[in-house]
Amino acid sequence: MTFGAPRKGTHEVVLIHRRLLLASTTHTYLAMQTHRTLFAPIWLGAIELAHRVVMAPLTRLRSMQPGDIPGSLMAEYYGQRASDGGLIVTESAEITPDASAYEGAPGIYTDVQVGGWRGVVDAVHARGGRIVLQLWHSGRVSHMKLSAGVVPVGASAIPSDEVQVFTANGILPATPNRALSADELPGIVDLYHRAAERAKIAGFDGAEILAAGGYLLDQFLQNGTNRRTDRYGGTVENRARLLIEVTSAVAEVWGADRVGVRISPSGTFNGISDSEPESIFDHVAGALGQFGLAYLHVIEPRVRGRFDS
Ligand SMILES: Cc1cc2nc3c(=O)[nH]c(=O)nc-3n(C[C@H](O)[C@H](O)[C@H](O)COP(=O)(O)O)c2cc1C
Repeated sequence: MTFGAPRKGTHEVVLIHRRLLLASTTHTYLAMQTHRTLFAPIWLGAIELAHRVVMAPLTRLRSMQPGDIPGSLMAEYYGQRASDGGLIVTESAEITPDASAYEGAPGIYTDVQVGGWRGVVDAVHARGGRIVLQLWHSGRVSHMKLSAGVVPVGASAIPSDEVQVFTANGILPATPNRALSADELPGIVDLYHRAAERAKIAGFDGAEILAAGGYLLDQFLQNGTNRRTDRYGGTVENRARLLIEVTSAVAEVWGADRVGVRISPSGTFNGISDSEPESIFDHVAGALGQFGLAYLHVIEPRVRGRFDS
């Protein structure tokens, strides 16, 4: 996780890496320094943390059905993992019923779901923790069985055998998607805006936009899945446009200093690829840098697809 500018006399953040856990006695001093930094407070934009151990977003598929509603099981799970002044990023929450890749994933598009998330937030806050909601549109990574018959959408119509979806009938190849028209994109931005508003009503401390993992926003960023010839395809500026518009909409609700964005520049999960990842992600980092976000959350290069090297 790359954090925003330190505030209020705090220190630079340390990247948590398994190598640190393997520090030998010759590296005891380094380990002690790391320990001191890891457990030092920091501000992530407007979110105050007492330490820097952050729980990564992890889909658990435990929402109540029907309705993709977070229930008491989820409140118990997140409450168990909360620590005083620590941050949890929730599992991805779909912003519309047509945009899920997994049966059992929770949503953030109904009032009942907001009530369910309130229970999760309260459980984390009761232990002094902070929690941000990860906003998710799965794009082409979906199936008509998950979307009540709606055909999945993406940047371009590029079906892939590598894209698999978890349905009530087991793992199935994704339903071939259609391309979103430019006219539909304001509606997508609006879905993020409304989801951000619902997250605020539920009492979260902020929101994280999922632009990683081969899902919708990543499908626009990377040219393996974006072959558009309009203002949302071609140049890096055009491919980043939807993410920038979404970030702007979510920041309008929360203030940029309570918004994070997750990207996976080296990811291959869900059949995502780009011919020049350095140029698109260099541009994305620079463009997001203009917002003054709470943080930029980057999945490390060692993760290839589903596998950790
Ligand atoms: C079971 C499982 C569920 C996950 N769910 C999500 C998710 O909902 N959102 C997300 O951004 N990443 C998700 N991830 C990715 C993890 O947050 C994490 O990035 C990945 O395991 C690699 O670890 P690292 O980022 O510490 O290198 C999931 C990973 C696993 C194994």
